[in-house]
Amino acid sequence: MNSRKKQFATIVFIFLSSYSARSQEHNVSAGYMPPSDPLVQQNLAEWQDLKFGLFMHWGTYSQWGIVESWSLCPEDEGWTVRRGPHAQNYFDYVKAYENLQTTFNPKQFNPEKWADAAKQAGMKYVVFTTKHHDGFAMFDTQQSDYKITDSKTPFSSNPRANVTKEIFNAFRSDGFKIGTYFSKPDWHSDDYWWPYFPPKDRNVNYDPIKYPERWENFKNFTYNQIEELMTGYGKVDILWLDGGWVRPFATIDTAVEWQRTIKTEQDIDMARIAKMARGHQPGLLVVDRTVPGEYENYVTPEQQVPSEPLDIPWESCLTLGNSWSYVPNDTYKPARQIIHTLVKIVSRGGNYLLNIGPSPDGDWAPDAYDRLKAVGEWMAINGEGIYSSRTIAPYAQHNIYYTQHKDGHTSYAFLLSDENNDQLHLPPTIQLTLPDGKPVKRVEILGLGKLKFKTKGNVLEITVPESKRSNTALRYAAAIKLSH
Ligand code: GLC
Repeated sequence: MNSRKKQFATIVFIFLSSYSARSQEHNVSAGYMPPSDPLVQQNLAEWQDLKFGLFMHWGTYSQWGIVESWSLCPEDEGWTVRRGPHAQNYFDYVKAYENLQTTFNPKQFNPEKWADAAKQAGMKYVVFTTKHHDGFAMFDTQQSDYKITDSKTPFSSNPRANVTKEIFNAFRSDGFKIGTYFSKPDWHSDDYWWPYFPPKDRNVNYDPIKYPERWENFKNFTYNQIEELMTGYGKVDILWLDGGWVRPFATIDTAVEWQRTIKTEQDIDMARIAKMARGHQPGLLVVDRTVPGEYENYVTPEQQVPSEPLDIPWESCLTLGNSWSYVPNDTYKPARQIIHTLVKIVSRGGNYLLNIGPSPDGDWAPDAYDRLKAVGEWMAINGEGIYSSRTIAPYAQHNIYYTQHKDGHTSYAFLLSDENNDQLHLPPTIQLTLPDGKPVKRVEILGLGKLKFKTKGNVLEITVPESKRSNTALRYAAAIKLSH
C-alpha cells in the first residue's frame, strides 16, 4: 500500500474509533516495531495465516448478565452503570459483586464442546480471559484467593475447576494456538486500588512514584501471576495484555483520548515480564495492546475494522452479540455478517477474533452454536481463499474483495451477497480487475466449478451460465478462484 493510502486508512480508523474512551483506541499503525527474535517472527507469521480465532469473556460477572468488570469502575460512563438492589451505594455494590464468587458454579462446563464447535467453524486459535479487570482469576493462582479454585467458589470442588487449564488443553488438542487474555489493571488487588484511598477511576488509586514499595508489590504480583500462566498451562502462543492505561508515560502515543484517561505513571516493567514469559514460552507473541513498541507484536482494533489494508500484523476483536460478557437474550449477529466481516478483514490483511460470552452455567447460548455451524459450512468450501492469504490490489471494488494465497499462484475474488440477503444471485457476466495485473489461466467458483472467461486488457470477463447463477450453494459470499 502506498503511504498516501495508509495515511487515509489511519485517519478513517481514528475517526471511527473516537466514540468511546473505553475502547482501546490509538493510531494503530504508529510506532509498530517488528519483532527481532526469529522464533517470535515465526510464530507471528504462523498466527497471521490462521485468520480466524475465538475470544471468550467469562467470569463471575456472567451470573448477573452484566458488562464484564466495568460496573466496579467509578467513572460516570454508559458502560459503568450499576444496576440491581445494591446499585445505590458503591461500597455495598462492590461487596455484592465480590460475593458472586460464592455462587459461581458453571456445572455444564465442557470445553471440548466449545473447541469442537469452534474447530468446525474454521477457527484456529483461542484467546480466553484468564483474569479481567475485576481481578477474579479463572485459573489456580497462588497470589490471591479471589479465584475460581478457592474453596469459597462452589465450582472449586469440581475436578475441572481450573477452567483455564481445561480450556487450553481442550483447544490445544484440537490444533488451536492458545492465547491468554490477562488484565494488567487489577481492581481487587490492594496494591492497585489501595483501600486507604477510595478508587477514583480505572487507574491505580495512589501515586506509584510517592509509594514505590506498594507499586513494587503490584509489579511482582503481576509478574508472578503471568509466570504461573506461562509455566502451569502447557504451550501458550499469545500473551494478550489488556488495560493499556497501565504503561509508562514515555509510551503514551498521540491519541488525545489516552492522554485524558491515563493520569498516573504506571510502569509495570514489560521488559522483565516479556523476558520471563519468553524464557518459559519461546517465540511467545506479546500483545501489550495499545502500547506501541517492542511488546505489541500485533495491533488490536476493537469493535471495528480498519477501512483499508494495513501493512502491519493486526487483529480486529469483535463481539458476536452486543457485549463481551454473557447477557441473557443478547442478539447475535447473523452468519452472513460474520462472513462478510471475515472477508473484509482478510482482504485487508488482518485476523478476526470473534467473541462469545459463556453463560454462568458454563455453556454458550444455542444461537452461538447455530452461527458457528453456518460459518463452518461456508468455510469448508471457501476457506482456501481465507487461510494463509495475503492482500492483493485492487483490494476491494464495490462488493468484491480480493485475497491471494501466499504462494502467489492463486487469487480469490469474493463477491458478497446483498446486505439483507443470504442467497447470492450472480449476473450473466462478472467483470473483475486482474489482481495485481496478473494473467489468469483458469477460473472457478468454489463449490460450483469451472467457468469460461476472456481477458480484455486489465479486465477479466467471466461468463456465468444460467444453471449456476442462483445455485443454493451460493450463500453469503461466493469465492471466484483465479489460477495464475
Ligand atoms: C474493551 C472492554 C474490555 C474488554 C475488551 C476486549 O476494552 O472495555 O472489558 O475486555 O474490550 O477487547
